[in-house]
Amino acid sequence: MAQIFPKWTNKAPLYVAIASVLIIIITGGLINYYASPLNIDVGYRPIQPVPYSHKVHVGDLGMDCRFCHTGVEYSPVAMIPPTKTCMNCHNMIKADSENLKLIRESQQNKTPVQWVRVHKSPDYVYFDHSAHITVGVGCASCHGNISEMEVVFQAKPLSMGWCLNCHRNPDDHLRPFDKITNMTWTPPANQAEFAAKQKALLDIKAPTTDCTGCHR
Ligand code: HEC
Ligand code: HEC
Ligand code: HEC
Ligand code: HEC
Ligand code: HEC
Repeated sequence: MAQIFPKWTNKAPLYVAIASVLIIIITGGLINYYASPLNIDVGYRPIQPVPYSHKVHVGDLGMDCRFCHTGVEYSPVAMIPPTKTCMNCHNMIKADSENLKLIRESQQNKTPVQWVRVHKSPDYVYFDHSAHITVGVGCASCHGNISEMEVVFQAKPLSMGWCLNCHRNPDDHLRPFDKITNMTWTPPANQAEFAAKQKALLDIKAPTTDCTGCHR
């Protein structure tokens, strides 16, 4: 009987299987690479409803972060300031500015401004600002130099590997408490000595790498 299919087709299912496995591995790898926080989140800079500038308010006017982010020392969340905080100044300063129209409307209508969230950990991650601020980890270690940003962007990956890297060796990130919101602080020559002293004093148990610390 004449062969309808050439002989190699006997192996066709095998070729298909190999090809599928390769496709799965390659697409999996690509998704993993491009979806990893290291590649998509760093540099994330959403457009905000009001052109509020950290460079103007912190860099030029010298305001401290905690004037607006009042929760940062005492609670898990830093908190975005309410309209009232802005209007303390802007009912007088630039009171007619077009750029502040939404702020004035927000005050009149008693509706919050819809700021767009920049930094966001997944829901299954537990993060706490106060746990870091109270041991002397400064904002800039995790947010970069905010005082130079006209528009806030994500400067660090916020991935699990990034968290663990610092937890394994936080020494270079521990600073004196009066430098917490300093955006240009760098570790001095005697940093190792200072870090050792702080770790003993504050009972910092580096490494905090226990899974349940961040996944509760
Ligand atoms: C005058 C008030 C004010 C001061 C002072 C201020 N901020 Fe902000 N900050 C805001 C407002 C309003 C937003 C929300 C809009 C935006 O993202 O730009 C914000 C957003 C942020 C965000 C992004 C939040 C998110 O959505 O992930 C970070 C990080 C931040 N501020 C850090 C700082 C640091 C660090 C300092 C001090 C160096 C500081 N801020 C000082 C008002 C302030
Ligand atoms: C301590 C006083 C103070 C506070 C509080 C404050 N600002 Fe300002 N803001 C200023 C000053 C001063 C300027 C610069 C004005 C200038 O350029 O002459 C300014 C400029 C601005 C501008 C640019 C206005 C324009 O037309 O150029 C915007 C937008 C703005 N602020 C938004 C905000 C928002 C939003 C908040 C609250 C999160 C806020 N500010 C809180 C003092 C303040
Ligand atoms: C150890 C790293 C770290 C330090 C230090 C840190 N942050 Fe954050 N910050 C984060 C992470 C991670 C998020 C996202 C948290 C989430 O989604 O639950 C965040 C979110 C924020 C937000 C938006 C959400 C919120 O909590 O209100 C603001 C505002 C903020 N940080 C301001 C600050 C300021 C101001 C300081 C310094 C006084 C600071 N952060 C110090 C890591 C840090
Ligand atoms: C720049 C350094 C640094 C980074 C980055 C960092 N941490 Fe921490 N974290 C610390 C230090 C230091 C402590 C204090 C450890 C202690 O008190 O024993 C701490 C403590 C904590 C605690 C409290 C632990 C406890 O048992 O009380 C949690 C939760 C935590 N970190 C979560 C995170 C998460 C989630 C991230 C990443 C999104 C992160 N941290 C990134 C330095 C860092
Ligand atoms: C210092 C904080 C911290 C500790 C400790 C930690 N994780 Fe995570 N983990 C994170 C963060 C932050 C993310 C989210 C990363 C992202 O945004 O993709 C994460 C994500 C994950 C994910 C989701 C998949 C992924 O890789 O994105 C798994 C699974 C996970 N962690 C398991 C663990 C296990 C198991 C341990 C203990 C060996 C552990 N984690 C310890 C912070 C931590």
